[in-house]
Amino acid sequence: MSFDRSVKIAPSILSADFANFGQEIQAIEAQGADWVHVDVMDGHFVPNLTFGPPAVKAFRPHVKTVMDVHLMIAPVDPYIEAYADAGADVLTAHIEAGPHSHRTLQAIRGAGMKAGIALNPGTPAEAVGHLLDLTDVVCVMTVNPGFGGQKFIDMTAKIRRLREMIGDRPIHIEIDGGVDPTTAPLVAAAGADVLVAGSAVFRGGSVDNPEVYGANIAAIRNACS
Ligand code: DX5
Ligand code: ZN
Repeated sequence: MSFDRSVKIAPSILSADFANFGQEIQAIEAQGADWVHVDVMDGHFVPNLTFGPPAVKAFRPHVKTVMDVHLMIAPVDPYIEAYADAGADVLTAHIEAGPHSHRTLQAIRGAGMKAGIALNPGTPAEAVGHLLDLTDVVCVMTVNPGFGGQKFIDMTAKIRRLREMIGDRPIHIEIDGGVDPTTAPLVAAAGADVLVAGSAVFRGGSVDNPEVYGANIAAIRNACS
């Protein structure tokens, strides 16, 4: 994983056909996805349940780009090794998931993965100030986590502040929630480079009609240039 600040589109497979993840991942990558975003929910930290380490491990052989695993779970630390074993390239924990994010980020890097820290809409940029030297990805939630298809919450002031705080450090700013061709240029202009999009990528397409995925990805990317 080399570092650059160009806009990268990370489709969330939360909006894919849950009975057909392998083909869905292959389709979005063939249609221009830069990363594959995998939303892990525990029915406790967020009010929804998705999948755990064995499912993520089954996705791995299909992902040729970057497998970006977003943990919406608490606690995180007991599961870090399992997600390393499952083949996550980036493992992101929420800062709200527990009091020891510093230890969590160290453990994620220690297990050989890139370390991400996610911030709910109510959490200020300054919360990650003392964590940045341990962080590879800051994920700014632009919805309250738990479900796809929610309305975008404007966090551009937070993104701009994070961009200032990060300076020259090789840290991605990722945006998650309600990203579409209308909202993407706002967050990209504020300094974000990884754009997660679920419904805006999968809407209207299927593995039998994957060109729609390609058009949806291109529409988001082109809106930012
Ligand atoms: C929300 C998830 C997101 C979600 C985004 O809790 O973390 O990744 O899938 O979905 P859209 O793009 O539909 O808002
Ligand atoms: Zn996510």
